[in-house]
Amino acid sequence: MKKFLNCKIDLSKRVFIPRIETEFWVKKALKDCKLQIARVKLKKPKFLDIFSGSGCIGIAILKNIKESHVDFVDIDENAVEQIRINLKLNRISSKRYRIIKSDIFEKVKRKYDFIFANPPYVAKERLKEVQESVKKLEPKISWYGGRGGLKYIKKFLKEAKNHLKRNGIIFMEIDPLQREDVEKILKKENYKNFKFYKDQFKKIRWVKIWE
Ligand SMILES: C[S@@+](CC[C@H](N)C(=O)[O-])C[C@H]1O[C@@H](n2cnc3c(N)ncnc32)[C@H](O)[C@@H]1O
Repeated sequence: MKKFLNCKIDLSKRVFIPRIETEFWVKKALKDCKLQIARVKLKKPKFLDIFSGSGCIGIAILKNIKESHVDFVDIDENAVEQIRINLKLNRISSKRYRIIKSDIFEKVKRKYDFIFANPPYVAKERLKEVQESVKKLEPKISWYGGRGGLKYIKKFLKEAKNHLKRNGIIFMEIDPLQREDVEKILKKENYKNFKFYKDQFKKIRWVKIWE
């Protein structure tokens, strides 16, 4: 069991273990969402937590943003089960979420006000640096991102814009070394506004993308 913001997160299905860097940026992103919700007067904001793993991000959204609805998306059956367990553990009403087992956006049909993504992003070239405990305890599918660690980031950014409502915002976690490559992908995919932010260790860790 782990704490993520004000949520209890069970990890018994052996999914990705939430990181403190993620907790740090999600807290900031939630503040941003609240401001945006007030600014554009959103009544029932629709969120997507894609690559959701334990469900920690989406559950933090549901616990901290009034009237929010979250779609959780993961390809791994263990993650799907884990998300279900954690939603119950945190007493979230079933009217407020859907869990979709999907290869990124394959089975996702809706559009969202906010998309949160923490894709697998460890680069093939940096496999040697991965701690033994990660290799042993967390499934490779949850952290390995192929060449440059960009396999899922590319696929995600290609589609994400088609699933964003007007005034929508995307928040995505990255590896600090991916900043330049991610910037290139964002430009290639015609995203106009984006800004990179640092984590608590002063490393570039997340990007905010908006209309
Ligand atoms: C880095 S973990 C993030 C977990 C959680 N959101 C967090 O922040 O702690 C990435 C997740 O993406 C999922 N995943 C990997 N490939 C996927 C794909 N093609 N489509 C959807 N989810 C995928 C993995 O199963 C894993 O749960």
